[in-house]
Amino acid sequence: MTYVVTDACIMCKYTDCVEVCPVDCFYEGENMLVIHPDECIDCGVCEPECPVDAIKPDTTGGLDDWIALNHKYAEVWPVITSKIDPLPDHEEWAMTNDKLEHLSEEPGQSD
Ligand code: SF4
Ligand code: F3S
Repeated sequence: MTYVVTDACIMCKYTDCVEVCPVDCFYEGENMLVIHPDECIDCGVCEPECPVDAIKPDTTGGLDDWIALNHKYAEVWPVITSKIDPLPDHEEWAMTNDKLEHLSEEPGQSD
């Protein structure tokens, strides 16, 4: 089992989640974070920290594509362990659904 970052994170990137992860398994893209499914220990403490409910347990169902996306980018993006400012238009994007088309494949700035 793992926890998974989903659609709602894109273009927001609040990063509250990274502060609580005991195994530092969040990885940073330009406009989204992902969790490495092989490193997550399923503690669940990150889930309630996300202001936009982007983090889901894989037991939710229907998340296969998101699990694959998290795994793919966790292999290439840098780890992030400290909170940074959310993206500039995060409040507007927090109200938006279906943001996958806006996902950047570029890495984030790292710690
Ligand atoms: Fe980290 Fe726990 Fe969240 Fe997994 S569930 S990403 S180990 S805080
Ligand atoms: Fe993204 Fe939520 Fe973390 S918006 S960066 S999953 S706190």
